[in-house]
Amino acid sequence: MARKQIFAGNWKMHNTLAESRDLAEGVIQGLGDLKGREVVFFPSTLHVPEIINMAKKSPVKVGVQNMYYEEQGAFTGENSPVMVKDIGCDYILIGHSERRHVFGETDQMVNSKVKAAYAHGLVPMICVGELLEEREADKSEQVVDSQLRGAFKDISEEQAKKAVVAYEPVWAIGTGKVATPEIAESMHQHVRKVLAEIYSEGTADSIPVLYGGSVKPDNVEGLYAKENIDGALVGGASLKVQSFLDIISVG
Ligand code: PGA
Repeated sequence: MARKQIFAGNWKMHNTLAESRDLAEGVIQGLGDLKGREVVFFPSTLHVPEIINMAKKSPVKVGVQNMYYEEQGAFTGENSPVMVKDIGCDYILIGHSERRHVFGETDQMVNSKVKAAYAHGLVPMICVGELLEEREADKSEQVVDSQLRGAFKDISEEQAKKAVVAYEPVWAIGTGKVATPEIAESMHQHVRKVLAEIYSEGTADSIPVLYGGSVKPDNVEGLYAKENIDGALVGGASLKVQSFLDIISVG
C-alpha cells in the first residue's frame, strides 16, 4: 500500500525568530521535486504564526511541538488545541520523549492530547520509543507496545487512519547514535503489528511510521530504504537548511 511519506523538522527550543525565518525561507526556496512527500516544520510555538505565513504558498505544513488537552481555562503557560487549530496548524507533535521524560508526560496525557487533536481537526504525530536501559533489558517492544496502546486508547479506527507515528529510540535522540536500519525496521514492523492488533492489518498498513533519532544526510538513505520506514522526524539536522534539504530529497 502506498503510504504517505513525511519528513518533519522538530526545531525544539532553538532559534531566534530571525533564525527561524531564515531556516524556513531557505528550506522552502530549496525544495525541489518533493516526489509526493510531505514536509512539516515544528518551530517554537512563538514562531509558528510567522512560519505558517511564510509556508502558505508552499507545500510545507506546520505544527506545534506540544499543547495541553483542555480547550481553555486556568492553565498558565499552556496552549490549547483550539488555539493550535485557530492559528492554522495542520499537525501536533504528541508524546515526544522529551515531553515524556523531561516533563513527566504519561501515556494517559498523551492519550488525552490525541483525543483533543482529533476533536479539533489536527493530525497527531505520536512519538514512541524506548530508553537505553529498556533496550538493554530487552524491553523495547514491550515499551513501544504499551505506549501505542496508551496513545490509541478509545481512538476509533477511522480516526487512527489519520494518525502519524514516529518511532524514536530515546538512546538515539540527539546522541549521534542512530539506530541501524535493521533495528529501526524491526521496531517499525513491531509498531505495525501492534497497530494491526488494535485495529486491522489494513489500517496498520496505512499509517505512516517515521523514524527519528540522529537522522543525518549521511545515514538517512539506509533507513529510508527500509519498507516500513515512511520518512523521518529530524531534530538537530533539521536546523540547517542544506542538511534538511538533503534529508528530504533522499533516495
Ligand atoms: P535528533 O532529534 O534528530 O536531534 O536526534 C530527533 C527528535 O527528537 O525528534
